[in-house]
Amino acid sequence: MEIKPYLEEQRRLVEEYLGRFMLPAEGDFSRLVEAMRYSLFVGGKRVRPILCLAASRAVIGDASLDGQVMPVACAMECIHTYSLIHDDLPAMDNDDLRRGRPTNHKVFGEAEAILAGDGLLTFAFELLSDPAFAATPAEARLRICHTIARAAGPLGMVGGQSLDMANEGKDIPYDLLRTIHRSKTGALITAAVETGGIAAGADATQLRALAGYGNAIGLAFQIVDDLLNVESTTEQLGKAAGSDAEAGKATYPALLGLEKSRTMAADAVAEAHRALESFGESAEPLRALATYIVERKR
Ligand code: IPE
Ligand code: IPE
Ligand code: MG
Ligand code: MG
Repeated sequence: MEIKPYLEEQRRLVEEYLGRFMLPAEGDFSRLVEAMRYSLFVGGKRVRPILCLAASRAVIGDASLDGQVMPVACAMECIHTYSLIHDDLPAMDNDDLRRGRPTNHKVFGEAEAILAGDGLLTFAFELLSDPAFAATPAEARLRICHTIARAAGPLGMVGGQSLDMANEGKDIPYDLLRTIHRSKTGALITAAVETGGIAAGADATQLRALAGYGNAIGLAFQIVDDLLNVESTTEQLGKAAGSDAEAGKATYPALLGLEKSRTMAADAVAEAHRALESFGESAEPLRALATYIVERKR
């Protein structure tokens, strides 16, 4: 299948719903909401919500549940955007550019950027638990909340960010590097795929397959992020190239070299394809997304 038009169409769809769900920047809290909206609406690739929708469609075979899955897909993007705002803060990666624009703290100041991140994280759970989206059975919604909380929290993304920071400038063993990548980036990506499946009523076997796929592409995604940081340009990425080496980050290219890193990303994608063997035609978008993740240029 043609990935480019598909991604473009899905991105538009996700953005339409994000626009519908996100609070308007007016009233007493307008400054905070403006900061949240600034980072949310500046043009990310929307990979996590697109994966979430694609997983639900792989399970049920069509897009009829999209409306029901959208709060989950958009919650994933809110959490991801919060993680980027905090990741860029001076106390963390100290970056000035994100999604082609000045980072949140550069525009709104550090305190507001921290709060914008907090706001996006919390708003995600408001969205997930909103009684207005009660079409998904309560049990599935609880499981979705738990899956996302776990993936975003201390045993997932936040834990991975902590390890990433603690190991700057250190020589670390490969197993620890893989753990960092699986947690800081892989966990949320896996949760996006799993929760799309849960929302669509996937059975245990389907969920295992989706989780296997998510784990594989989640790792590949961060390996490619590392590669692009070395091989691409700031202009192309919309964020600083070369920053990992400068900060002494533990990355795949730093530990294993470019060639081996590329091979490992490709191996992970092959594993993702294998994980989907039990799915038919309906999983074509997921397969194409896996390939896109290693071939992407930004
Ligand atoms: C960047 O994520 C941070 C990582 C977890 C590697 P994306 O590459 O998905 O960034 P956006 O959302 O497109 O800006
Ligand atoms: C991103 O890691 C992980 C999260 C934001 C959770 P990086 O720090 O490597 O991502 P970029 O390169 O700044 O997007
Ligand atoms: Mg970082
Ligand atoms: Mg960073």
